[in-house]
Amino acid sequence: MNHSIVILPGDGIGHEVMAEVKKIIGWVQANTDMSFDIQEDHLGGAAIDAYGVPLADSTLEKCRKADAVLMGSVGGPKWDKVDYAIRPEAGLLKLRKELDLFANLRPAIVFDSLVDASTLKAEIVRGLDIMIVRELTGGVYFGEPRGIEDLGNGQKRGFNTQTYTTAEIERVGRVAFELARKRHNRVTSCEKANVMESGKLWREVITALHAAEYSDVTLNHMYADNCAMQLLRNPKQFDVIVTDNLFGDILSDEASMLTGSLGMLPSASLGAADANGRRNALYEPVHGSAPDIAGQGKANPLAAILSLAMALRYSFHRGDIAELIEWAVEDVLSAGIRTADIMADSCTPVGTAAMGDAVIARLAQQKANAA
Ligand code: IPM
Ligand code: MG
Repeated sequence: MNHSIVILPGDGIGHEVMAEVKKIIGWVQANTDMSFDIQEDHLGGAAIDAYGVPLADSTLEKCRKADAVLMGSVGGPKWDKVDYAIRPEAGLLKLRKELDLFANLRPAIVFDSLVDASTLKAEIVRGLDIMIVRELTGGVYFGEPRGIEDLGNGQKRGFNTQTYTTAEIERVGRVAFELARKRHNRVTSCEKANVMESGKLWREVITALHAAEYSDVTLNHMYADNCAMQLLRNPKQFDVIVTDNLFGDILSDEASMLTGSLGMLPSASLGAADANGRRNALYEPVHGSAPDIAGQGKANPLAAILSLAMALRYSFHRGDIAELIEWAVEDVLSAGIRTADIMADSCTPVGTAAMGDAVIARLAQQKANAA
């Protein structure tokens, strides 16, 4: 049975990094028992240009039916002036919401060979392995009412609503506790219960869920501002961090820099599993569209390639092939092969395509060794 994948390169460096992902999919297809049906479509600015909207209904339907959606990145200065309701980012937000991808997994792993690429001291980040679980379909990103209203006297008022229900907090909390059980069994839950009612409820619900179903996992609560500080002070204290949509957006960008580059961070956005274990899923690098380097063949494709590995693990239940790809990435880095964002002394600078080729060469080598 073929696995169906929809590829949405999006905008900016999305095209370049997804070209490398397609190479890796091709390798997997040619060298393992897996086969894929691949469709490609537009998202974000590219979709505005092609369809007049950042996510066309026909694209959404394709994504709904697919086993996994692989996205590059969205946005860029070209679409700065489009109507706010159809800006490129709105396409991504709609995709997340329509597919009900409430659990966003953002691992921050420091590869040994990149320890010096971090802006923090090596001893603070060596061996770091954090999983941020960001709630992705609720909170201030989607809360109503929202808007900008005219107050008449030359003044306006912009407003958004932070909202969470018990069920929304519970389902993302469950994902965090389940992941912790397969890792180091610790969950840190972050909110601002000292300031926000939604945070107070968040803490109550996570506490109750923990007591009822996950008391074997170590849980602690932390205010989100303190978490931002602790991530720099002593990041290795964390195993799984669970937090809301907005705090998760910010804390995951911060965590990415512990690893040396935003160019290294993959992510998985997952919906609930049905009776057959199938779930809607979107995989994307955490980095953006980087318009400043787009089209120059300089972008680091590793976050996108590691996102494919996450798809193999979480949508296709092929942890074996995921691990092979992750190993190949690590081996390329140990060999000193670097894109500009992670360049270091006496390493070999390469562009996007050469980095993808280097990963493929490792995969081929590994296969030859195994034969
Ligand atoms: C992310 C991005 C998005 C977000 C933008 C592009 C809408 O920053 O995935 O972290 O804010 O969620
Ligand atoms: Mg972000």
